Amino acid sequence: MERILVTGGTGYIGSHTVLELYKQGYDIDILDNLVNSKITVLDKIEQLAGKRPDFYNIDLRDFDKLNQLFEEHQYYLVIHFAGFKAVGESVAKPLEYYENNVTGTLNLLKCMKAHQVNKIIFSSSATVYGNQPVSKYDESMPTGIDLSNPYGKTKYMIEEILKDTAQSDPSFSATILRYFNPIGNHESGLLGEDPNGIPNNLMPIIMKVAKGEIPELQIYGGDYDTPDGTCLRDYIHVVDLAAGHIAAIAKMRPGISIYNLGTGKATSVLEMVQAFEKVSGQKLSHSIVARRPGDLAAVCADPSKAERELDWHATHSIEDAMRDTLTFLRASAS
Ligand SMILES: NC(=O)c1ccc[n+]([C@@H]2O[C@H](COP(=O)([O-])OP(=O)(O)OC[C@H]3O[C@@H](n4cnc5c(N)ncnc54)[C@H](O)[C@@H]3O)[C@@H](O)[C@H]2O)c1
Repeated sequence: MERILVTGGTGYIGSHTVLELYKQGYDIDILDNLVNSKITVLDKIEQLAGKRPDFYNIDLRDFDKLNQLFEEHQYYLVIHFAGFKAVGESVAKPLEYYENNVTGTLNLLKCMKAHQVNKIIFSSSATVYGNQPVSKYDESMPTGIDLSNPYGKTKYMIEEILKDTAQSDPSFSATILRYFNPIGNHESGLLGEDPNGIPNNLMPIIMKVAKGEIPELQIYGGDYDTPDGTCLRDYIHVVDLAAGHIAAIAKMRPGISIYNLGTGKATSVLEMVQAFEKVSGQKLSHSIVARRPGDLAAVCADPSKAERELDWHATHSIEDAMRDTLTFLRASAS
């Protein structure tokens, strides 16, 4: 069977995608420098899939090691998750973000070209749309305008690099997947979002409050122009997101293909709190504090292109994601 290289494959979305790839029968190599994930993820993958990926502890910024990997293996396709992803941190450390995300991707593309690997799926983000006055973002909208942080700019730059590469090489296929807000985890609770350091996404913070590690959830802004005043986001279960990659592989073709992976349904922060309380039966301490600079009032996908062309759609609900996250929380505590 074809061998796929998954960069960032021990990370949150990468590890879930590896499970889906195994269901399709692919062979898998994971490249990761473990800056934001743990090597024990490989044991969990093996437990769930019955197979263990070959693992290479390589930093994408290390061109020589990366090139050697490509010299020694023949890949059918690369799925490229590896990168830094914390918006706030990117504002404080722009050079690190540009180097890790952009230089890392350039190294990867150079190695792919040198070794005739011409298919890549790239983890992009809804952040490339910036702030536009629409209720739903679709792929035909402009990107890269007034992006408020270096993280989003790295995603936009990488998208542009992929477009130029495709233009220069008619055999090159790149699928750009723009994720909205991934949440949840595999229903076993064995895999999940387990970042090294302090989380800055809503779900890991909710879970830390639930565990008593943080006293309360601080909701940034209760005076947005939304039904309950808190921000609206399109939360997509990570297992649905992972399935989107499988659907994308099946439809890869030369050139650039771009798809939103989201649900098309916007949920407010207060609705997330209510969903947590309903599923867990536990009250969640929260308070509303000042807005956080750079946050947009509402971000929601128009997922119809992916639904139509990839024959894919999200099937999990917010409650499913809450239930699975609680299972992960309890499994990690025991
Ligand atoms: N989680 C989200 O909310 C979200 C939303 C949109 C897009 N994305 C993108 O999806 C991708 C995966 O996100 P995730 O949530 O799984 O993040 P993650 O941090 O869990 O996974 C990323 C993995 O990449 C590895 N990595 C980072 N820099 C590396 C380098 N230079 N060399 C080798 N490995 C490196 C990390 O150790 C980690 O295991 C990222 O590119 C992220 O920007 C994530």
